[in-house]
Amino acid sequence: VVMKDVFQTRTMEEELKTRLGIKDVHIVPGDSDEYAWVQKEMGRTCVTLIKQRMAAENNVIAVTGGTSIAAVAEMLVPDSGLKETLFVPARGGLGEQVENQANTICATMARKAMGSYRLLHVPDQLSKEAYESLISEPSVQDILRLIQSATMVIHGIGEAEAMAIRRNSSSRVLGELKDKKAVAEAFGYYFNQSGEIIHKVLTIGLQLEDLEEIPCIIAVAGGASKAEAIEAYMKRRPNQTLVTDEGAARAILAKN
Ligand code: F6P
Repeated sequence: VVMKDVFQTRTMEEELKTRLGIKDVHIVPGDSDEYAWVQKEMGRTCVTLIKQRMAAENNVIAVTGGTSIAAVAEMLVPDSGLKETLFVPARGGLGEQVENQANTICATMARKAMGSYRLLHVPDQLSKEAYESLISEPSVQDILRLIQSATMVIHGIGEAEAMAIRRNSSSRVLGELKDKKAVAEAFGYYFNQSGEIIHKVLTIGLQLEDLEEIPCIIAVAGGASKAEAIEAYMKRRPNQTLVTDEGAARAILAKN
């Protein structure tokens, strides 16, 4: 029975790779919408991939916030390969609770891996003026350079509306997302079904175009409810790895 399950999962991974047009997919059993342990399993799989994909030295890992990436942090254990690693948040404040903020996750990862970390202290909901004055601060520029030099990025993907609500976005933003049919969110950017950007949260850190320069990018997102979001975001990212669960995989493959 177990061998059969493994075989089925491998087949589903191949199907999903073709369907999404991306280079690498890893599926864990179950649906994280239903069981919390499934998210932990995605975290475990992601940790294995991180270890496999580390360069020999000078690793800088940028991480986003969210519960999926918090689960990756939870699963990290000290490892000789990870010891010299520097962890940084991918972007500044995006309106998450403390335990799910990129800064918190990044500090937890460094503690668990016995690596080091740098934080980026930027408030959520920046005005244009605040953004422009912060970005010219030498200390902010220092950390920004480190973030842009990341060798690996680990990030979450969310449903657009769920994320906008979680961030207490204004009714103006909620309306705009609805009008423009936003379905996905990642890195503070909102996307429609074709993967086009329709809105962006103003904050300091990685911009979507910076991803082109980063050798290894791993998304961690599961649950049948994220099927549409995952599919939309992956339209932009053929060169990327996805760690997901059976719930999301089946829901994506069942769509026509
Ligand atoms: O807010 C950070 C973030 O990574 C978003 O970009 C993403 O949509 C969300 O968290 C995913 O959160 P979760 O893993 O809890 O679904």
